[in-house]
Amino acid sequence: MNNLWGDSLSGFWSAWIIVITLGSIVFAFWLLYANRKTDKTPDAEGNVETTGHAADGIEEYDNPLPRWWFQLYVGTVIFSLGYLLLYPGLGNFAGLLGWTQEEQWEEEVARAEERFTPIFAQYQEVPIPELAEDGEAMQVAERIFQNNCAVCHGSNAQGGYGFPDLTDDEWLYGGEPDNIVATLRQGRNGLMPSWQQLGEENIENVTQFVLSLSGEEHDAAQAESGAATYASVCAACHGPDGTGNQALGAPNLTNDSWLYRQPGQPLEEAIRQTLRNGRNGHMPAQAAYIGEERVHLVAAYVYSLRQQD
Ligand code: HEC
Ligand code: HEC
Repeated sequence: MNNLWGDSLSGFWSAWIIVITLGSIVFAFWLLYANRKTDKTPDAEGNVETTGHAADGIEEYDNPLPRWWFQLYVGTVIFSLGYLLLYPGLGNFAGLLGWTQEEQWEEEVARAEERFTPIFAQYQEVPIPELAEDGEAMQVAERIFQNNCAVCHGSNAQGGYGFPDLTDDEWLYGGEPDNIVATLRQGRNGLMPSWQQLGEENIENVTQFVLSLSGEEHDAAQAESGAATYASVCAACHGPDGTGNQALGAPNLTNDSWLYRQPGQPLEEAIRQTLRNGRNGHMPAQAAYIGEERVHLVAAYVYSLRQQD
């Protein structure tokens, strides 16, 4: 960025901004001067000029502006001109100092890296279960979590519709350190196909069967008809007993934790919707964004959440 003129705007818009910016400053200055009044001596009859405003017999004198106010005003004009000369502000003019927000940001990142890299490197050596017990490390890790994960998993890590709760002990892909690190390194794609082709009646029966797996209220006759369909099409992924398969990210259907259930939605309706539409949860790989050291640290944080219960 040695060039004084950047090229992010076309010449026309750059000139447009320059004219409007400088024009406004000149106008403000002119307004001040045009209305300036220095004379406050009374006339021959001892009358002082008034603005013509009066209320309850009190007249408003047309006195000059206080000197301090006038000087402050002139000061702001000089400041703004100096600022526009040194920093970017006038269209494509880069400013004499060559300051850019990108460079400032890069410098801040570089400074942070310099500070944190040795700290992270030291944590990298500590096994995850041990690191999860280190309060100081977990404070750093929580910040990484809030910056990178909370958008999806929530600031309390309890997830939401389609985003798994990381504080409970149900795991789509496993809660051991290696599982968590693998999730973070490579990302995850949960894929459950749509079962529309089974037809509405079968979907209803299988829904009742799934309800029965977790001991929810269900229609026994329909669930019994659904059992055969479950065994032939669902068991391959969710397991014959419905406890799921962590290699595929197929959830356990026998507990009361549901990834795809809107708050207040009847469970039955949520399951039907899953079967009709299929589901495809996507967790983006993190290592490329945050680097291996932070993966290790934030994996320990996730591990520590599970340790709490
Ligand atoms: C863009 C949203 C998004 C972001 C950002 C995100 N995740 Fe996820 N994460 C998901 C989704 C969606 C799933 C579930 C994937 C599925 O359904 O198969 C998931 C799954 C997981 C799992 C597996 C849970 C289990 O039950 O096995 C862990 C652990 C996890 N995320 C941790 C993190 C951490 C730590 C971060 C930050 C470094 C993070 N995630 C960032 C969306 C996200
Ligand atoms: C190819 C493997 C596969 C098959 C076959 C399969 N599922 Fe799934 N199922 C999954 C995966 C993976 C998920 C999680 C999707 C995600 O993470 O977005 C899932 C999610 C679900 C959910 C949502 C659970 C929740 O917590 O909200 C239900 C319910 C479900 N499946 C029931 C069934 C039923 C019933 C069948 C048979 C008709 C079936 N699945 C067949 C892989 C499968």
